[in-house]
Amino acid sequence: AARPRVLSGIQPTADSFHLGNYLGALREWVVMQDDHDAFYCVVDLHAITVAQDPEVLRQRTRLSAAQLLAIGIDPDRSTLFVQSHVPEHAQLSWVLECLTGFGEAGRMTQFKDKSARQDADHVSVGLFTYPVLQAADILLYQADAVPVGEDQRQHLELTRNLAQRFNSRYGNTFTVPAAHIPKETAKIYDLQDPTSKMSKSVPAGVVELLEEPKRSAKKIRSAVTDLEREIRYDVDNKPGISNLLVIYSALTGRSIADLEAAYEGKGYGDLKKELGEVVVEFVTPFQRQVRAYLDDPAELDKVLHRGAERAREVSAETLRSVFDRVGF
Ligand code: ADP
Ligand code: NA
Repeated sequence: AARPRVLSGIQPTADSFHLGNYLGALREWVVMQDDHDAFYCVVDLHAITVAQDPEVLRQRTRLSAAQLLAIGIDPDRSTLFVQSHVPEHAQLSWVLECLTGFGEAGRMTQFKDKSARQDADHVSVGLFTYPVLQAADILLYQADAVPVGEDQRQHLELTRNLAQRFNSRYGNTFTVPAAHIPKETAKIYDLQDPTSKMSKSVPAGVVELLEEPKRSAKKIRSAVTDLEREIRYDVDNKPGISNLLVIYSALTGRSIADLEAAYEGKGYGDLKKELGEVVVEFVTPFQRQVRAYLDDPAELDKVLHRGAERAREVSAETLRSVFDRVGF
């Protein structure tokens, strides 16, 4: 039987991925390659829903691709590409926009959150239709499954509704994708505020994969914890220590229970120092790999070109049948 197909994308909106991106999402991308036909894209069309400097965007797109390769996305097994290299995304998005109710789009909570944080004059129509472009990303590849976090559930529901609507109006065209809730992913919290998620928008408490490793170790040493002494996993009462244990466990494969036992009688300082070393050991070879890809732009171009070609073999076929059914 054919392997189930998955699609996932990440925005090139930062210079570096952070530990939350990696442990919460990207690590699962690597695992899924084993038993899925995976399509992974750097979604630069999504990035311009908010203002971007062109040179910075171009550089971040390459940096994102290099980081995906460095964490273990294998371009021989998976289709790794840049969204804007595949024109069918924008083309299908238009068709789907015309199937989306204005009110339906207006109910997307992520748009409400994001637009509320911006000056009203700067909220673009693209930010509003973002989830429809996301639906196009998924449906173009006839993805069976989409790995999503809790925050993306509503968008995936919209995707499913649009697929079903198109299928019933025009005839069966799209696979209706299911949410894939990865079992291995962790939610990582901010080191300075361990009750809110680690996010690039709050730099102090974020471990960036491309920052100076010593800096990451220092951030971990100064992570906010609590006034007790016991190293125990207890999210409600000890969110800081719990977060450190989750990160430690995820990076080493050791269970939380094993870590609790190993740190019995030891201090928070020991945990932080040793976790800092674990992080340094993880990011050092990662950074070396990223640098190797950036130092060989021709090779990176070749990988991305090949990825886009392979993506287009699928996306062009889907779009052809969509246009035919719509009456183009
Ligand atoms: P950020 O929150 O820093 O802006 P993005 O929204 O670009 O990150 O997230 C990219 C991917 O990383 C998404 O799949 C998201 O669910 C995941 N992710 C981001 N932050 C975390 C976190 N703190 N813990 C777990 N997963 C995360
Ligand atoms: Na975010």
